[in-house]
Amino acid sequence: MNIKEQILALRREIEQHNFNYYVENSPTISDFEFDMKLKQLQELEKAYPQFFDKNSPTQRVGSDLNAAFEQVPHQYPMLSLTNTYSEGEVSDFYNRVQKLLNADFQIVSELKYDGTSISLIYENGVLVRAVTRGDGVKGDDVTANIRTIRSIPLTLKGNFPEKFEIRGEILMPYPIFEELNKERENQGLAPFANPRNAASGTLKLLNSAEVANRKLDSFLYYILGENLPYNNHYQNLMNAKEWGFKISDAIKLCSSLQETLDYIKFWDTERKNLPVATDGIVLKINDLMQQKNLGFTAKSPRWAIAYKFQAEKAITRLNSVSYQVGRTGVITPVANLEPVLLSGTIVKRASLHNADIIEGLDLHVGDMVYVEKGGEIIPKITGVELKERFFVNEKVKFIENCPECGAKLVRNEDEAAHYCPNEDACPVQIKGKIEHFVSRKAMNIDGLGEETIALLFENKLVKNVADLYELKKERISRLERLGEKSAENILLALEKSKEIPFSRTLFALGIRFVGETVAKRLTAVFTNIDKLENATFEQLISVNEIGESIANSILDYFQKPEHKTLINRLKTVGLQFAETEKAEQKSDKLAGMSIVISGVFEHNSRDEYKQIIEQHGGANVGSVSSKTSFILAGENMGPAKLEKAEKLGVKIMSEEEFLKMI
Ligand code: IVH
Repeated sequence: MNIKEQILALRREIEQHNFNYYVENSPTISDFEFDMKLKQLQELEKAYPQFFDKNSPTQRVGSDLNAAFEQVPHQYPMLSLTNTYSEGEVSDFYNRVQKLLNADFQIVSELKYDGTSISLIYENGVLVRAVTRGDGVKGDDVTANIRTIRSIPLTLKGNFPEKFEIRGEILMPYPIFEELNKERENQGLAPFANPRNAASGTLKLLNSAEVANRKLDSFLYYILGENLPYNNHYQNLMNAKEWGFKISDAIKLCSSLQETLDYIKFWDTERKNLPVATDGIVLKINDLMQQKNLGFTAKSPRWAIAYKFQAEKAITRLNSVSYQVGRTGVITPVANLEPVLLSGTIVKRASLHNADIIEGLDLHVGDMVYVEKGGEIIPKITGVELKERFFVNEKVKFIENCPECGAKLVRNEDEAAHYCPNEDACPVQIKGKIEHFVSRKAMNIDGLGEETIALLFENKLVKNVADLYELKKERISRLERLGEKSAENILLALEKSKEIPFSRTLFALGIRFVGETVAKRLTAVFTNIDKLENATFEQLISVNEIGESIANSILDYFQKPEHKTLINRLKTVGLQFAETEKAEQKSDKLAGMSIVISGVFEHNSRDEYKQIIEQHGGANVGSVSSKTSFILAGENMGPAKLEKAEKLGVKIMSEEEFLKMI
């Protein structure tokens, strides 16, 4: 086998393993073996860049260079479905269809997945475009993000039509959703209300590398095109599974009304065991000719309906409202309820989110309230039964002081949440900050879990993250449950953390709104902590994707003398507060320039070009704007970027021109 054949064979093999793992849920090799194969392919592709292919499974990692989304029209409008809520309405639908068709017909029963819909276009077996629903007529081109989803095939197998569109749902599985929300709360960001919002929010991220991290999944349920292999929906879908798509195993071909009603009943309970959200059942007439005869109304097809599951509801008494202080100081009001059975679990508490929600419900202590478990994981209060309000109870009034430390709470304009500003003295926040600092994505200090941190804090050994570096082995090993071995491991991990690069150290400080990505963007421009500390509001907001709230939060942080002291102490113990690779400045030929990198290069990789730009005083930015100095363009530059550059008159420079210039 020559090199090219070897690369192609590896790509095919890896795609098959991806399919086995992400679509079939039945891997045939270990994760380790898979990683080895992927690594081998990466190495071959690096050594032989002439065989680059954007559809290679190595390209699923995304990039942080996506331009804003381009709007594109749908070839067939993306309609919605008529909703029904009762068996009666389902049988009305069945009878209506029977009358209109006046012939035998079959119904395909499917789960209604509760994610965000997507349209995928394939040409000659290759994914060419992925578009969101948008307003139904046109949507956002999110191809770069969709490419990172492992269960969506980039190239097809078997006997597929030359050109077709397939639609489906992009979903965030519950475990990924919960992990993401935990991380967001750690970073002081508002959690997503449900997996649907999380999935659609993720698809709109400008950074496809971040999308890749979020592990979205998909189910496809509707094929459109001129030359489909079968004249019915069911067989086409089953066939699409062979091409590599993830098609639900729950799809059932039904021949009577009773069968569809049984299907609904079965899944209304069984769906609770699925790893993704569903909010109903979709019923579709199987035969494509019959579908065509039934046709569409302006809004939806006459050949399909959705049956929506009832959001489970219960009524119970509100006993009191308590307030929790999060790690970043955000206050969450929680309703304490008279225990009530809801979807098989006893509910005692419900989130009230923020002061506006309490005000909107006009809540009084002692009210009888409706609790619902809809798409949301935590039950919420959806209303008050005023007929049951016999006595005038006291109105729920949001607290003014922190329940943990007593500090006066603040609420910024345009923000829904109240928070405790006493970040360096409020015990919950101190512990939270340390937990965040040591977490895997920050300083990665193993051995310091929540309990150990609480012990260290209660024994007055640490009250901020700089104290961690002054811990002595003897003191740690004397603590309950810890021994000499754990003490040694903790000290070792602390020592190792001194090598963590600047962007992660900055992230670890836990400045409000400075998450991983924001920290990376900041350190790319402000290459050491002094530069960041001295940055003005204008300088901060001129950085790609840094808005006013983030800028204000950074300015606030550095205004406090205790933070300066803390950073100085951390500097003294040897943490990284400067970008190291960029230390060797080669020239200032690109000083003050904002440069966008796009396409595939021959002489250096994208990352190497990023570094070269910085070494010559320039800044690498993600998207094209009127402030862009020029675009460093390789092969296959994205069409959206090209169009935007032309519109704004931004110069496009080839690799050769650029190398000559510097
Ligand atoms: S078929 C012409 N099948 O529900 C309509 N839709 O209200 C074709 N959905 O926008 C859609 N699961 O996002 C269809 N198995 C399924 C579905 C499904 C979820 C969503 C989809 C659509 C909405 C319709």
